[in-house]
Amino acid sequence: MSQQDRSLIVVVGSANVDYIMQVPHLPQKGETVAGSGFSQTFGGKGANQAVAAARSGGKVVLVCSVGGDALSNRMLSGFQKDGIQTDFIVQIPNAYCGTALILIDPEGNNCIAADPGANYLLTAAHVERIEPLLSRTAVLLVQYEIPPESVARALELAVSYRVRTIWNFAPAHPYPYMDMFSKTDILVVNETEAGFLAGMDPPEEDGEVVEALYRMHELGTETIILTRGVKGSSVLTEGKVIHIGAFPVQAVDTTAAGDVYCGTLAVSLSEGRTLLDAVRFASAASAISVTRMGAQPSAPYRSEIEGFLESRR
Ligand code: RIB
Repeated sequence: MSQQDRSLIVVVGSANVDYIMQVPHLPQKGETVAGSGFSQTFGGKGANQAVAAARSGGKVVLVCSVGGDALSNRMLSGFQKDGIQTDFIVQIPNAYCGTALILIDPEGNNCIAADPGANYLLTAAHVERIEPLLSRTAVLLVQYEIPPESVARALELAVSYRVRTIWNFAPAHPYPYMDMFSKTDILVVNETEAGFLAGMDPPEEDGEVVEALYRMHELGTETIILTRGVKGSSVLTEGKVIHIGAFPVQAVDTTAAGDVYCGTLAVSLSEGRTLLDAVRFASAASAISVTRMGAQPSAPYRSEIEGFLESRR
């Protein structure tokens, strides 16, 4: 099978209903703050990455688990409108869809609590149904809002079909199958997740970032991307660390910036771009996304990303 035949991007992960409130500041323990705007949109790290990949030009298959309610049905229609293949989505009649409560401050910083709901009913057996697709798959993308064994099964299967694997280890919480890091081609983490995996405080300065990258490298992943918000991305690849600046923009909501980054990174790599070109494409897409409210509503289309890159050349 030639590389040309491998055009699919398979995303295995979560789908949530997001309830978003804008607040003057993120509340302290015990504090009540008055909201200044409320909306309900669709999110979940897996679904957000699938939407970002599809809008930026990828042929995307999403594997996730949703409930049997009206909101889940609306979510599925949205995926189809974005051209995502939904045949591998599991719909569980008596379950409720994953739900996230998101608070956003005026600088676009957020605070998220997510209840997994149907996401935690996505089993390794559900994931195994993707096997017939894998000889046509360029990239498999996973996160960590589904059961750990389902993440592991997705990575194992992808490796057995020589599919490039990207693991966005988000959100950070203990993972029982540590050998999966050596089955991951590219690990993508933010500062909090990097601190968790590297066993240190979230790295901020360049020196701390380099230390975190080398510590995570010991887990067995060859290429690691640490996304650093306005400071850009630091990439450990072929034993060297490269810092790539962010595109300066006025952020209104950083929710799903990492998801847009991962989805568009996958697309660019699936098209045969170099890692650093793919990072630039993903950085542009994620810069656009933070100028818009919401998770899936903020994911840009291909023409927008190309126009943005052209304007910043
Ligand atoms: O990464 C952002 C996402 O995290 C939100 O859409 C929310 O659903 C949570 O999963």
